[in-house]
Amino acid sequence: MILGSLDHQETGPWATVSDDVLARLDLDTAQARGLPNAAFTDPSFHELERARLFPRTWAFAAPASLVPEPGDVLPITVAGRPVFLARARDHSVRVFHNVCPHRGARLVTDELHGKAVLTCPYHAWSYGLDGTLHGRPHYHGPKMHQTRCNSSPEEARLFEIRSETWHDWVFVNLDGRAGAFEEFIAPVVREFDGHDLSVFRRSEDAMRFEFQSNWKLVVENYCDFYHVFAVHPELDVAMSDEVRRAMWPGGCHMFNGYSFEGASSGISVEQADLDLPKQPGLRDDLANSMVFGLVFPNFAINVYPESVQAVLFEPVAHDRTIMHMWFYYVGDAARASQFSKQRARLYSDWAGLNAEDEGICRRLQEGRTCEAYDGGRMAPYWDKGTIHYHRQIALAVRQEGAFAAGS
Ligand code: FES
Ligand SMILES: [Fe+2]
Repeated sequence: MILGSLDHQETGPWATVSDDVLARLDLDTAQARGLPNAAFTDPSFHELERARLFPRTWAFAAPASLVPEPGDVLPITVAGRPVFLARARDHSVRVFHNVCPHRGARLVTDELHGKAVLTCPYHAWSYGLDGTLHGRPHYHGPKMHQTRCNSSPEEARLFEIRSETWHDWVFVNLDGRAGAFEEFIAPVVREFDGHDLSVFRRSEDAMRFEFQSNWKLVVENYCDFYHVFAVHPELDVAMSDEVRRAMWPGGCHMFNGYSFEGASSGISVEQADLDLPKQPGLRDDLANSMVFGLVFPNFAINVYPESVQAVLFEPVAHDRTIMHMWFYYVGDAARASQFSKQRARLYSDWAGLNAEDEGICRRLQEGRTCEAYDGGRMAPYWDKGTIHYHRQIALAVRQEGAFAAGS
């Protein structure tokens, strides 16, 4: 149940983001406490996030390149809501609620190609991929059709969702009241300033990984460089100690990075000889390093000189998350067969890494059933990001700060 006012914040899911909880998130990292267990174990808090957090901000939807050609249509879900992506005739990517405005039938069930219009199977109302109404057969009675010529195409258009595309990544603002996307993404653009993300093309490799844990634990773990020495020994060896940084915030987002021994996108030392083209003209100080960004709330990118991994964290239930990972390479290296071995190697290394994290995330979820755990004891150097992230979750659910309507 969603309560409308923070007056009720001492009860139910609201207690999870109460003033006291927020005050403890404001303390120095070593003294701070993370979100209470209920934020990870209570289905009603999951509902609260679904109703207030995801709609209020810019949530990641999918790569635009999944609908490369005009006429391509792809049904997906965003925070549990059925929506679809469509590439319109003018090449723009549009996002719509996946429902017919007439009597509410689900409009799209499968990936489609070469579509000029979408026709609802129930009464055959049809729509262009820009959302405009094309026709309504027998609308005024038998054989009395309504067409584009005798109606206003805006009259019963599809329910469009506010969306923006940054490089290959489509973001949506479900409630239509978030601030400008340019402001939302500006800290991310700044952090990746030295990189040329426009040269990257998506390969056909896509990873889907299921975690038996709350989506926030999967995100937290993904952002946590502290556990690398204990959980990912191969990656640990590849990372240089000199430039292994803890998370730093940028708006509601956060970032970190490391430099690696050798000269590649490798996430294990064996990969130091990966022979893949690099971003042209990359600055010297970035030639042997990786920059990571968590684009709040549900998107992450790892940017290496030769590759990018783009990650969507999809909350499915309070204790179940699907992680989607797409792999990008410089220009033709994304598809050319001469690089297939390198791509396969990177893919399998990431599969191994994610499998190592799966068990850890399950333990994190299990640990949140212990009543003694009260938000944790944080490591001052490493857990700044954990606390920053929890604070953004609390503010978003409360719809305050950067998440207040129109800010
Ligand atoms: S519900 Fe789609 S045309 Fe009637
Ligand atoms: Fe990990």
